[in-house]
Amino acid sequence: MQKVYFDHNATTAIDKKVLGVMMPYMEMQQGNPTSQHSFGRHARTAIEEAREQVALAIHAHPSEVIFTSGGTEANNMIVHGAAIKQRESTLVRSNIEHPCVARPNGGDEASRLATGIIKCQ
Ligand SMILES: Cc1ncc(COP(=O)(O)O)c(C=O)c1O
Repeated sequence: MQKVYFDHNATTAIDKKVLGVMMPYMEMQQGNPTSQHSFGRHARTAIEEAREQVALAIHAHPSEVIFTSGGTEANNMIVHGAAIKQRESTLVRSNIEHPCVARPNGGDEASRLATGIIKCQ
């Protein structure tokens, strides 16, 4: 029986073109972009170029593009950011959110999120 993968929402195979562009960084250009040495500076340049490419593609300013390690980190950042910015407001979410939105890690701000649940049917 042939198996079919239906969970690309959770994780998916890397596109071959992306893999080709990333391989040098995975194999030998392993500099930390916050390091001052040439390996780090090279990585920093590559990240800033990528940031500009993404910004151009989505009509944003490069300063508005933030790279994260994945969905949980990104969602936590948004929830905490919204909670801090809207201190006097009620935060709402639906009842079908991923756990990283429904129960974000840490912070008192995040606990306010449960106060205004929108029910999806
Ligand atoms: C809708 C949704 N949000 C967030 C996440 C969490 O993403 P990550 O595993 O990259 O932290 C997932 C992962 O399956 C997801 O499906």
